[in-house]
Amino acid sequence: MIIAANFKTNHTRASTKAYLDDLSAFIESDGAGENRVMIFPPYTALDSFDLPSSVTIGVQNGYPAIKGSFTGEIGLEQLDEFSISTILIGHSERRHILGESQELIAQKFDFFKEKGFEIVYCIGEPKEVREEGIESVMRYNLSQLEGIDTNYEKLIIAYEPVWAIGTGLTATNEQIDETLSRLKEVVDVPLLYGGSVKPANTKEILSIKNCDGVLVGTASWDVESFKEMLSIAKGC
Ligand code: PGA
Repeated sequence: MIIAANFKTNHTRASTKAYLDDLSAFIESDGAGENRVMIFPPYTALDSFDLPSSVTIGVQNGYPAIKGSFTGEIGLEQLDEFSISTILIGHSERRHILGESQELIAQKFDFFKEKGFEIVYCIGEPKEVREEGIESVMRYNLSQLEGIDTNYEKLIIAYEPVWAIGTGLTATNEQIDETLSRLKEVVDVPLLYGGSVKPANTKEILSIKNCDGVLVGTASWDVESFKEMLSIAKGC
């Protein structure tokens, strides 16, 4: 299982270090089992961390260029400095709040694929599409895979319904199960679920047939809650 924490615009450099120290001590004494842990801190917290081998640090975004004139963006040269080779692409907050187009997202995908990055690629439908039923949900989610090489061997897809992100609303197990099963028929890659995952629902979500892990926002920001989810994952 992959248990991933997306810090979004939370945590400072100091609190990220304290979080990772705490998490590392926990994993060293308790073990992560078969699980892989991914942490996506803000750029400003990147550093050379000494972490257990089960923990990977990734970034929440990146610009598809080595370097250049892209004000406010971070390119490969800056990521290489911290040995980053895992990236989130297509998160719904970047699509919907920052207005990233599928075209730009596909460009990012191609660039970071070419550089050999592990890519956690996010898709997910808004509420009105979910209300139209599974066929609309699939059409919408598959349209977010347009221009994406789904045969890329370092691709992980995170299915995160927009209406369940940061809202406290989780998709039902049936909805997750059906959507992940339909996705698995089309893309044979590890599939994560994201959207208000927390300690109380981790076990049932991880027990869904085609679910290979979770991408956690809000409930991951508190290290105690994230450690609790790791312990639950170990028992799954
Ligand atoms: P959430 O966020 O857990 O706060 O719903 C998930 C995500 O955006 O990855």
